[in-house]
Amino acid sequence: MIRIAHISDLHVGMSSFEEDVFMKAAEEINNLQPDMIILTGDLTNHGYYREFQQVARYLEVFEAPLFAVPGNHDSRNLGYQTFEELIGERSWKLTMRGDFTVIGLDSSSPDENRGDVGRPQHLWLEHQLEDCVENGNFSIVAIHHHLIPVPNTGRERNVLSDSGEILQTLTSNNVRLVLCGHKHVPNVWKLNDLIIVNAGSLSSNKLRGKHGNSYMVYNISDEDIEIFLHPVGGERLLLEKVPKTLL
Ligand SMILES: [Fe+2]
Ligand SMILES: [Fe+2]
Repeated sequence: MIRIAHISDLHVGMSSFEEDVFMKAAEEINNLQPDMIILTGDLTNHGYYREFQQVARYLEVFEAPLFAVPGNHDSRNLGYQTFEELIGERSWKLTMRGDFTVIGLDSSSPDENRGDVGRPQHLWLEHQLEDCVENGNFSIVAIHHHLIPVPNTGRERNVLSDSGEILQTLTSNNVRLVLCGHKHVPNVWKLNDLIIVNAGSLSSNKLRGKHGNSYMVYNISDEDIEIFLHPVGGERLLLEKVPKTLL
């Protein structure tokens, strides 16, 4: 079994970051002993160099390997450059155990809230996924902006502008799981055979209604994918249990 913890929207910065919530969540996640942690963007609040320095220190708390993509907040104030310096590549592909691939995409644009993958990165994604199909790899894609609107998040503004093309590429290449953030509201959509999961915010106080801070955990066995919502400091909730592969 592979266990993935999916965290998002830390928003480290002066006014919105709740350090005690972050530390509590990190302790919980370390106790779960995930194989990896995927962080889907908005690590910082303004993309400031100092905020990224703080984030880099906070992320050291996690015991499992962590892979992050930037969010719209991270690309402000030259943050997209700082991200590469202090966090890592903005787009990446990793393969575990020979047949399990995770691809991270950068959907942010400097100083803008909107999201898109863009044609060059889309072409790269297509090539990577074709390889996955050819090798029979199970593939997951991580991206900050939501691929389709999320309920209970108010007026829709920042859905990925090339979401139609990306959804087509994902569904036609057997991608089973997409991990998103951005809206600070947890949600699961199933579209064709694709499961699109939005994680809530791990540690920001910019929350909507009664949604508290939370993260997602995926238990992926040879047979099933279990998707759990973990409110920080609360009881986990099984949101979905679906077959790993469909006939
Ligand atoms: Fe955010
Ligand atoms: Fe965002």
